[in-house]
Amino acid sequence: MGVSGKKILIAVSGGIAAYKIHFLIRDFIKKGAEVQVIMTPDAEHFVTKLSISTLSKKPVYTDFYSDNGTWNSHVEMALWADVMIVAPCTANTLAKMVHGMCDNLVIATYMSAKCPVFIAPAMDLDMYQHPSTKQNLELAEDYGHFIIPAENGELASGLIGQGRMAEPETIAKAVEDFFNSGSTNKSLEGKTVLITAGPTYEAIDPVRFIGNHSSGKMGFSLAEEASKRGAKVILISGPSSQVINDQNVELHRVTSAKEMLVKVFEFYENADIAIASAAVADYAPKEVAKEKIKKNDDSLTIELVKNPDILKTMGEKKSHQFLVGFALETQNEEENAKGKLEKKNLDMIVLNSLRDEGAGFKNDTNKIKIFTKTEKKEFDLKSKDDVAKDILNFVESQLLK
Ligand code: C5P
Repeated sequence: MGVSGKKILIAVSGGIAAYKIHFLIRDFIKKGAEVQVIMTPDAEHFVTKLSISTLSKKPVYTDFYSDNGTWNSHVEMALWADVMIVAPCTANTLAKMVHGMCDNLVIATYMSAKCPVFIAPAMDLDMYQHPSTKQNLELAEDYGHFIIPAENGELASGLIGQGRMAEPETIAKAVEDFFNSGSTNKSLEGKTVLITAGPTYEAIDPVRFIGNHSSGKMGFSLAEEASKRGAKVILISGPSSQVINDQNVELHRVTSAKEMLVKVFEFYENADIAIASAAVADYAPKEVAKEKIKKNDDSLTIELVKNPDILKTMGEKKSHQFLVGFALETQNEEENAKGKLEKKNLDMIVLNSLRDEGAGFKNDTNKIKIFTKTEKKEFDLKSKDDVAKDILNFVESQLLK
């Protein structure tokens, strides 16, 4: 995911480190981000609008209005941004930000922004150590902003110490990690997400069962990611060696499909999003032998009966829930997946084909396609943690519609 498709607002203030901003802009543009740069009037002493706008492919603004009389709306730019980065952030700009001294376009834009804000301070070492700077950085942190600390090294003054702006790669990584983790973006705050995971075991006798190779990894990754995004997660898992230590995740371990069905409907009514990633056994033995079956005969017949289709039942009882199913197919993949979307009354289905190497339920990786009634999206082979992010991003994009 990274910064691709993201709208990044960079505010440059007047420090010598401003020259490094070209590299950051070029990197973001290369990775598919949209970049809008604004500058304080002083920044123009260090870099030119022309060099920056050439790289960012957008006009650079320093004032509330342009020479041709057009208004540069700080509110519009602030609300446009997915993230704002103030780099380099001088002692002066930092102080103005945290105390609301709104005397230029950068500060007015910052104060109108609702997106996460990253601050990369840059100043001489004594200024960096000054109690006012320290206090202002603490205040900025209290406001929920991300500080990318200045680094140690040779400073423009010739002195050596902490104050150099973090390298563009460090700033880029902080922003990319933010988008990748989703951890600080509490986009599912207030939502309850119900997830089924793992296989089910259907008892034949006290020691044997019918099961499958599902590891539960996909469902546990989904649970972890949903929790990071602020959701309350109810995870109902069949037998799996996966563990989760997360106070936002309520884990219920079950064994059979029937037990899973009962547990699911304890929580379904209150769920906002329900994701069925469990590989539920389609059939279970009609009778469970009370004692261990002896190997007396040359053959053994076990009569199987159909298990309840948990997801289909969820589809039938759907009121407000956004319902997501999985389809693991070996042939006519897309057709079968779309058929299940219809038949089970789903809002979205995640298809993995066993024909794709690395996909399916035994691996740590997966390769998926997502379908809704009107959309289709294909993804590359990724770790299941990253696939979980793709799935939840897609769910969130659908909820916004
Ligand atoms: O019909 P099929 O088993 O291929 O559908 C797969 C989807 O249905 C998965 O999301 C799985 O969790 C769910 N399912 C279920 N109960 C069943 C069988 C499948 O919830 N008995």
